[in-house]
Amino acid sequence: MLPSLAPWSSAFTSAVASELESEPFVPFSFSNVGEHGIPHTRTCVFRGFLFNDTRTNVLLFTCDKRSAKFKDLIKNSNFEACFYFHKARKQFRFSGAARVITNERYPIIDLSNLSTISNSEDKLCESEIKLNDDDLVVEQENDFYSIGLGKVGIDEPLMYKIVSPSQAQNMNVSTLSLADLNIPIHAPTEEEWKAERQRCWNDLSRSLKRSFKRPPPGSLLTSEKYTLLDSINRGVDGTSSGQENFVVVCMFVKAVDLVELTGGVDKRYLYKKSYDIDVWKEYEVCP
Ligand SMILES: Cc1cc2nc3c(=O)[nH]c(=O)nc-3n(C[C@H](O)[C@H](O)[C@H](O)COP(=O)(O)O)c2cc1C
Repeated sequence: MLPSLAPWSSAFTSAVASELESEPFVPFSFSNVGEHGIPHTRTCVFRGFLFNDTRTNVLLFTCDKRSAKFKDLIKNSNFEACFYFHKARKQFRFSGAARVITNERYPIIDLSNLSTISNSEDKLCESEIKLNDDDLVVEQENDFYSIGLGKVGIDEPLMYKIVSPSQAQNMNVSTLSLADLNIPIHAPTEEEWKAERQRCWNDLSRSLKRSFKRPPPGSLLTSEKYTLLDSINRGVDGTSSGQENFVVVCMFVKAVDLVELTGGVDKRYLYKKSYDIDVWKEYEVCP
């Protein structure tokens, strides 16, 4: 029951690493839909993996609690995130369900089924995409992105194998004792989610921390607000830290579409996580 790397993970982390050799941060496009079903896309900065552990397969970015994207995510947590890495010549398109860590919310992880069905062949077959038909376009299968779409609110429990960081650490130290004795795994505790939000806050630059003190994003700029923005910028505003507006968005990836530009015949792979078990399927498809 050890947490494991998704099959797309090493290609993604090596593309991130080579980009960071020459760039200060990795930007990507984050999309979600508003209440009228209209998509919205904006640039965000990739902030690494949940619990600083690539084995979670959960990607992070940060945002302001008062932003439009946050308000929309509360009602509909579906997202798409698109990265293009110039050096690696790879595009990663992630989709899945977002969850947030704020001063009053954290992801509810449902591990109740994982331990009992992780080896079940029956379950695998149920969610498997049939690839026998040459004409089948895997990407457009209803199944591919739409399983479990009924429960889209951000507070819905999520079936995703995220192990409490303290237990994951024990697994590192003594793989045999926990994994082979089949000891049940535990989801992160409230304290561990709080600590993760604090870790991400501590990683921000001083100027980025200050940005959370600004007047509500998107509100009309008045002369008072301009004066406030200016004093926040200069660090002389004397108001709260702004941390109450700080949100860590956790992208729980369920499907990945990877395009590799080769200069010849490009390559394209689709990866799909089973809905309720911790198994990834990989398909090489036509670009
Ligand atoms: C290079 C760059 C990086 C950005 N990174 C973030 C980010 O990590 N998080 C964020 O909320 N907004 C980020 N923004 C601002 C967003 O693109 C967007 O303008 C803002 O969050 C408001 O979006 P919304 O009204 O759709 O919520 C970034 C903008 C740029 C240009």
